Amino acid sequence: MTDPIIIVDDIHKSYLMGKEAVPALRGVSLDIAPGEFVCLMGPSGSGKTTLLNIVGGLDEASRGHIIVAGENLVALSENELARLRLHKMGFIFQNYNLLANFTAEENVEAPMVLAKVGRRERKQRAMALLEKVGLADRSHHYPSELSGGQQQRVAIARALANDPPILIADEMTGDLDSETGFAIMELAAQLNQDGMTIVFVTHDPRMAKFAGRVIELRDGKILEETGD
Ligand SMILES: Nc1ncnc2c1ncn2[C@@H]1O[C@H](COP(=O)(O)OP(=O)(O)O)[C@@H](O)[C@H]1O
Ligand SMILES: [Mg+2]
Repeated sequence: MTDPIIIVDDIHKSYLMGKEAVPALRGVSLDIAPGEFVCLMGPSGSGKTTLLNIVGGLDEASRGHIIVAGENLVALSENELARLRLHKMGFIFQNYNLLANFTAEENVEAPMVLAKVGRRERKQRAMALLEKVGLADRSHHYPSELSGGQQQRVAIARALANDPPILIADEMTGDLDSETGFAIMELAAQLNQDGMTIVFVTHDPRMAKFAGRVIELRDGKILEETGD
């Protein structure tokens, strides 16, 4: 059996609200194998975003261990964590989070600038990625000149910029009409077929159907799991 690409081991997370600790995750354990297509579901406030952010190294657990691509996140310095995020994980959010003053192509290039990829290679790769998501003809458009679905495609191309093995997506179809949402999920399914490990959060059971494995969170714990 191949080693898991993500190991979540007894993660607890509380946020301080004034003097009170609000529990967001209460002992979550989970292994994800390379190439899995995993959906996290659960009601609002159940801890989905907290779990994704901790797996993505964007937030720290109060207790427990996370191993991503063989690296123990807790043991990494800020710089090492930033490198891991840059090269091992692509992130997609509900509201696209594109840079408003950058064109589509420049948005896709941004993570490659951070990774110190040369200018010519950056441009070539950004164009190839925009073509992959069906937006080659919009490369010089700014986010405000693109529809929501097109902006999310740019965000996906950007997430793929440094060719990470893992894609992490929080409600990526949440702001899209269902037809556009389906098209985005089909793109994700295609990336998964090409070998990418994908972990995504959705409220929408129709989007969850794309996953090979569905994990239900409730009150900061895993409730049940279904899959194929
Ligand atoms: N930055 C924060 N400060 C305080 N409480 C937070 C913070 N982020 C999340 N929480 C709380 O943690 C719990 C889980 O939130 P979240 O992970 O965002 O849930 P979901 O994404 O499933 O809606 C909720 O009770 C929420 O209010
Ligand atoms: Mg959330």
